Amino acid sequence: MRITFCQGVLALAIVINLLILFYVSRLQQRMLHRHRDHVQPSSRLLPVPQKLGVTVIIREFEDFENYVPDVVKSFLTQKPEQPVMVAADTLPYPPLVLPDAPNVQLVILKPAPDQPAHVSRPETYVKTEYVALVPDGVKVDSTRQLDRMLEEFKANQGRVQMLAAPVQSLAPLRCVNLKVSLRTWTAEYSLAPSTRLCTALKGDAVILLRTKDLFNLSTPLAKPLLTSLFIQTSLRGWTVRILDISFSSAHQPLLSSSHNQWKAENRAKASRLQLFRDFGIKRVLLEDGKQQWFGCSKETSRCFGTVHDDTPEYLYQNRWTPPCCLQALRETAKYVINILETSGVRYWLEGGTLLGAARHQDIIPWDYDVDLGIYLEDIPNCDFLRNVESGSIVDEKGFVWEKAIEGDFYRVQYSEHNHLHVDLWPFYPKNGLMTKDTWMDHRQDVEFPEHFLKPLLPLPFAGFMALAPNNHRSFLELKFGAGVIENPEYPNPALKNCLPTAAGTAH
Ligand SMILES: *[C@@H]1O[C@H](CO)[C@@H](O)[C@H](O)[C@H]1NC(C)=O
Repeated sequence: MRITFCQGVLALAIVINLLILFYVSRLQQRMLHRHRDHVQPSSRLLPVPQKLGVTVIIREFEDFENYVPDVVKSFLTQKPEQPVMVAADTLPYPPLVLPDAPNVQLVILKPAPDQPAHVSRPETYVKTEYVALVPDGVKVDSTRQLDRMLEEFKANQGRVQMLAAPVQSLAPLRCVNLKVSLRTWTAEYSLAPSTRLCTALKGDAVILLRTKDLFNLSTPLAKPLLTSLFIQTSLRGWTVRILDISFSSAHQPLLSSSHNQWKAENRAKASRLQLFRDFGIKRVLLEDGKQQWFGCSKETSRCFGTVHDDTPEYLYQNRWTPPCCLQALRETAKYVINILETSGVRYWLEGGTLLGAARHQDIIPWDYDVDLGIYLEDIPNCDFLRNVESGSIVDEKGFVWEKAIEGDFYRVQYSEHNHLHVDLWPFYPKNGLMTKDTWMDHRQDVEFPEHFLKPLLPLPFAGFMALAPNNHRSFLELKFGAGVIENPEYPNPALKNCLPTAAGTAH
């Protein structure tokens, strides 16, 4: 067979055509893929920050009076392409009139039922490697503060996670140290040894940090912004450095009328309260030595529910007894012991309560009640105990005395609402042993020789002196086993025995 020249050219043309077709279709497919990636940022969990630079985030402002549009304009005047995100819980009203630019975004953090979840997630909108948290009222000047902060951050080479530029305002920016212990529900602010390097700030500042750091926090934009930020960062061991760079504030004070200031203060208080509730912080120690309690009181119910298997719910959350509860237990114990002493009822610290007194002169940090033993025959000496047989008594201090329904013992509750309590266990002597008629299913609930009560000896407990069995070490070892004072254990080790190492060092 012979192929003519024309046939050869034709065949070649067909082959080239086929090749071109193949490449074009490959190219189209690739472009389609890339296009899809672009239009569906939500298909990734966290958009990878792409652009160098800083996104300005404005989070804290009042709907009823703010300077957010001016702040945004001031940044755009410096750099028209500056990315800005204004984040609000709900759509601001009256409406915020922001500059109409593709790099300025208003983000509503409250999810809307007709929108996908990523729409209300602020990280969806941040494409830069860094973010700057900017307070309302800030004014940028020609010294390009953000650029200089960014240079400082890079020069800093990861030694601190946050940089702060003070905002010149009425109250100067203060460097404080913050120690948060979730286990004891406590945040403790103290004076920082340095004026530049600290774990928390009080006052107004622009904070620069990495985008991936901010959005790796539990609640990155919770309010009050700086309180929330530093609680979370101090738990991660991060530090903040105060720079020489500063911003000016266009409006001092920020709010024009005292009525608006009052309104803003009330909102700030409410959001602080909510934040501490959400984070499980019930006691705050301030750097001036003052204490604030956000826990239970006589008017609220006990801050943990009914205890099952001797293991209160907070132990499962890796937390100990809320400090307000410990305080209420100490107060109730002191009050009850005072009444027993003045009315002539012989009592002694019992069980876990005696154990706490022996270990560290206080209630065991994860205990949930106080136990006292009393002489059954002394009960008629105390009016409350004598009269309580016919129902419960609320005394003039608001404590509630009652005969327990679970057995032959008495219970004094902190209040009608708050059922934190001291239990009184009546014993009587029989053949040299102290015994009783109802027993709880507890290891320590056993008979013991009366000589431990003769005499009763004072022991420091919960800030006062209480009476305890003599030779309390052997008394405790008889009830709980050898070495009980030195080896702390949770009440029901079979259920919850992962006692944190901190417990070992605490006692
Ligand atoms: C996010 O935080 C966790 C702990 O809080 C840490 O182990 C992890 O490395 C962080 N991830 C990034 C990307 O920084």
